[in-house]
Amino acid sequence: MEVLVQPAGRVLSIKPGDKFLPALRAEGLAISYSCEDGRCGLCRCKLLRGNVVESSRPPRPLFGFRTRYLLACQSSPAEDCAIEIPDAQEPVIHPQRRLRTQVLGVEPLGHNVRLLRLANTDRLQFSPGQFVELELGRGFSRVYSLAGLPTDDELRFHIRIHPQGSAGQIISERLQPGTAMRLRAPYGAAWLRHRHEGPILVASSGTGLAPVLSILRGIGAAKLQNPVHVYVSFLLREEVYCLDELSAALERIPNLRASHVIVAYGALKRGLRRGLLTEALEADIPHLGNWHANLYGSPFAIDAAVHLLRRRGISEDHLHADPFHPFGS
Ligand SMILES: Cc1cc2nc3c(=O)[nH]c(=O)nc-3n(C[C@H](O)[C@H](O)[C@H](O)COP(=O)(O)OP(=O)(O)OC[C@H]3O[C@@H](n4cnc5c(N)ncnc54)[C@H](O)[C@@H]3O)c2cc1C
Ligand code: FES
Repeated sequence: MEVLVQPAGRVLSIKPGDKFLPALRAEGLAISYSCEDGRCGLCRCKLLRGNVVESSRPPRPLFGFRTRYLLACQSSPAEDCAIEIPDAQEPVIHPQRRLRTQVLGVEPLGHNVRLLRLANTDRLQFSPGQFVELELGRGFSRVYSLAGLPTDDELRFHIRIHPQGSAGQIISERLQPGTAMRLRAPYGAAWLRHRHEGPILVASSGTGLAPVLSILRGIGAAKLQNPVHVYVSFLLREEVYCLDELSAALERIPNLRASHVIVAYGALKRGLRRGLLTEALEADIPHLGNWHANLYGSPFAIDAAVHLLRRRGISEDHLHADPFHPFGS
């Protein structure tokens, strides 16, 4: 089969049944990847023309967008086709690792949120905004976003404890300093892009604050000059947490244009703004033509925000979102 690969404009010949990813890599074409088993989402490409044979793990579409995608590690061409590799100028290649680590601490961070600290002795390589899969029992795992940078001595996670939540119970009740753990990482395509000149919108709902801190610290560390707009939202006033760490990360952003902590319900304190994430974005940002957006957290809030940003003209290629949908074991 002949496969036209954009933006390189190269035509490859790929045998039926052969996956795109190894063929692209063999030709030296830059493409992001990590897990090679359909779970991290990094190798997602646009299908511009033609049809492919998908594996059992097709790519998850973002709410409201209709572009056809394929996972290059899971799909092979069904006929002559054309594909586009996203972010070909700055591919993220962190081959997936399964690490042994140990718990340094599990501490209260806010209402129903725990800070889980794991040793980063083996120096996990990841990009700000990515997440890991924590193995919490035999055949039982959950994914959690990284709150820091790969250079940190520890891996930090903000874990929301859901009523009757299986993982939350294990993390808050059974893990102690010294407990041995295993994780697989990194996962996730909502990483921080560096090669972009327009404004960056960074937004979260609930524990989506964890990857937001990672993104903000990443922007500060790389000294990105883009105008940055930050919206951190919570449903209830008592859920607000980590404001000191947020302020410290914001201080290091070279070109911070706006930062808002938004609360939907409960008594307002100084510095907080009333409303829903979507209401604030709708009021503040009329058009998102040249913007990039990184969004994380509660699936309801993030799906609604994705829908709004789409209506406000954001390019699908510039929208990087991880709604925290419940993840099966
Ligand atoms: C890409 C990604 C990144 C994630 N990062 C984080 C993170 O950094 N911090 C974090 O706390 N969670 C994160 N999650 C969610 C996490 O993986 C678990 O799904 C969540 O912690 C619930 O696991 P549990 O075993 O405690 O609850 P479960 O036993 O799976 O569910 C228990 C109950 O809680 C409800 N529930 C579960 N998740 C949600 C939700 N998101 N909103 C509303 N109700 C829910 C279920 O419907 C069920 O009734 C992420 C999810 C994804 C997909
Ligand atoms: S490398 Fe294809 S989904 Fe992870």
